[in-house]
Amino acid sequence: MNALSTTNGPNGPGASLVLGIESSCDETAVALVRADRTIVAQRIASQEAEHAPYGGVVPEIAARAHAERLAPMLEGVMADARLSLADVDAIAATAGPGLIGGVMVGLVSAKALAMASDKPLIAVNHLEGHALSPRLADAELGFPYLLLLVSGGHCQILRVEGAGHYRRLATTIDDALGEAFDKTAKILGLGYPGGPAVERLAREGNPKAVPLPRPLKGSAEPHFSFAGLKSAVLRAVESGQHAPADVAASFQQAAMDCLIDRLEKALRDHGAAPALVVAGGVAANQAVRASLQSLASAHNMRFCAPPMALCTDNAAMIAWAGLERMAAEGRDFASDPLDLRARPRWPLDESAEAVRGAGVKA
Ligand code: KG4
Ligand code: ZN
Repeated sequence: MNALSTTNGPNGPGASLVLGIESSCDETAVALVRADRTIVAQRIASQEAEHAPYGGVVPEIAARAHAERLAPMLEGVMADARLSLADVDAIAATAGPGLIGGVMVGLVSAKALAMASDKPLIAVNHLEGHALSPRLADAELGFPYLLLLVSGGHCQILRVEGAGHYRRLATTIDDALGEAFDKTAKILGLGYPGGPAVERLAREGNPKAVPLPRPLKGSAEPHFSFAGLKSAVLRAVESGQHAPADVAASFQQAAMDCLIDRLEKALRDHGAAPALVVAGGVAANQAVRASLQSLASAHNMRFCAPPMALCTDNAAMIAWAGLERMAAEGRDFASDPLDLRARPRWPLDESAEAVRGAGVKA
């Protein structure tokens, strides 16, 4: 298998082992990943049950749940792998963007482990975890690639030139797509988390039944907008004229039309790349994957989507981003300082100009 060449630490070339910690939203996750792309062990604890009564993630509840679960999960993963901290080359943790209480729980734990074991700390941008996750699943995926990053807090098109090198081509001026899925689910009374529920219901509906807008479709600006679509869904449901399945299917279709239109614009404006890649929670949606697949085929691009379990939040992608950093920054990669701060906001492309409303949530 095509391993990343990382040479630091006790495991030697190609065998580096990184412990990853993710706690930026409502999943507490720990994973051990090797440079040869083996996920040696991983555990994920979802907080769905805790947040469901509130119809969304409550930051205070999330932070407490991470604090209660993380230490036993760390022990559990090391036990599953029959390894100890001495076997690990580095400790990678999400340091942002996300709900700050949860991020701090994961980051402080990683700092403590790094200090106790005298291993390097790698502070990972959660979005970089998503952005590089397709390379964990697919050894053939090289740089550069055109990335659609669609999660609960982000909707961006990025050109990924290499680990640490991202150029943002488009972002949302208001809501993220995952957020629009979650709100549509709430309006339809499907509960939380919404994305998978909307996708299931949409399978039984007619995507042409409900006339819904395609915000910014055809616009000379490169960006996305989903707030108007969400309001139109609310009006359609309140009218009482449409079956819920038709609303779900029409919403999903409108969202996909926007994705395709904006990606086509990015391809026109910036040229093609060898591969079109999708990552983030919404990438788990089969209909979205299928429409991106046909766009890629039409442009003679390879299409790459990580397996479902790597799309939604997980720690394997955080450990992998740590390994990518080790490989990209050379043999004596610089570890992050132990006084490094958690960042509630942390754009992947720091040079991209701020867009109205974008990145309000993580
Ligand atoms: O990447 P992720 O797990 O967390 C963030 O970093 O935001 O993404 C979560 C988002 C949620 O908004 C969820 O509704 C959405 O991804 N999602 C989906 C599906 N599975 C998860 N959206 C549409 N269809 C799905 N099957
Ligand atoms: Zn995420």
